[in-house]
Amino acid sequence: MLSYRHAYHAGNFADLLKHITLIAIAQHLGKKAGAVQYIDTHAGAGCYNLTDEKALKTGEFAEGIAKLWALPQLPPLLADYRAQVATLNPKGSLTRYPGSPWFAANNLREQDTLALCELHNTDFPLLKAQFKGDRRVRCFHADGYQQSLAMVPPASKRGLIVIDPSYEVKTEYQKVVNHLQALYKRFATGIYALWYPVVDAGRLQQLEYNLKQTGIKRIQLFEFGLHRNHEMPGMHGAGMIVINPPWTLKQQLGENINWLIEHAYAGTGAYWRTVDIAGE
Ligand SMILES: C[S@@+](CC[C@H](N)C(=O)[O-])C[C@H]1O[C@@H](n2cnc3c(N)ncnc32)[C@H](O)[C@@H]1O
Repeated sequence: MLSYRHAYHAGNFADLLKHITLIAIAQHLGKKAGAVQYIDTHAGAGCYNLTDEKALKTGEFAEGIAKLWALPQLPPLLADYRAQVATLNPKGSLTRYPGSPWFAANNLREQDTLALCELHNTDFPLLKAQFKGDRRVRCFHADGYQQSLAMVPPASKRGLIVIDPSYEVKTEYQKVVNHLQALYKRFATGIYALWYPVVDAGRLQQLEYNLKQTGIKRIQLFEFGLHRNHEMPGMHGAGMIVINPPWTLKQQLGENINWLIEHAYAGTGAYWRTVDIAGE
């Protein structure tokens, strides 16, 4: 039973971090000619209407993309991110927000390929319709865990695998670790980007610990939080755990998110945290 719908959360602060990370990695991969295989294990619907009742019900995008929409200037990665979202909002007001598959397609090249997995019966047709005619893209109405395992290593040996579950089921915290281990065994040079929510401090510590125990090398964690009060209910932070990150990623994300905290979240308790979970 899939009850999570990303339409309620699109464009929130967690998407902001996830999608600038995705842009930065895709652009890094684009610096070399070899084809890139992108795999999105949990693709969602592909694009979201911020004026529909789902988005308005939570209003979460107000704490994400809307925070920087009208700022006069931004550092380069955030400026690029906003400019890309602006192409979907040509009239200037923020009404549409894209998902991870759109950012990937927009930042990858002609020679690259995208595999997008989505299980939800309502979101899958929306996803498929969005990429109709894009010959680089294959959409799978399938379990992203199984599908991604079947697709690595890619022939070009260059790949980015984004894993973005909703963690509705608590066993997912262990499942993602087991899955990364299985993928890494087949494709140790791929770049992996795992999203996680900060809801429960204990669960997050366990995730970091379990990842360290895998023996996988070069793991970095990047986290953007709205506040550190773990007593308050709900998601108050979110992060990306990246295996084999581009060597500039930590600095690039840090400069952009710290700037954003200073200019758009000043005095709110928002924070930026990075951890080198495993080195060389
Ligand atoms: C957090 S949303 C994805 C958001 C998207 N990655 C983005 O950034 O725009 C998670 C999605 O995964 C889907 N999903 C859940 N379990 C899945 C599975 N095992 N395989 C594929 N999709 C799954 C859900 O239906 C939901 O649409």
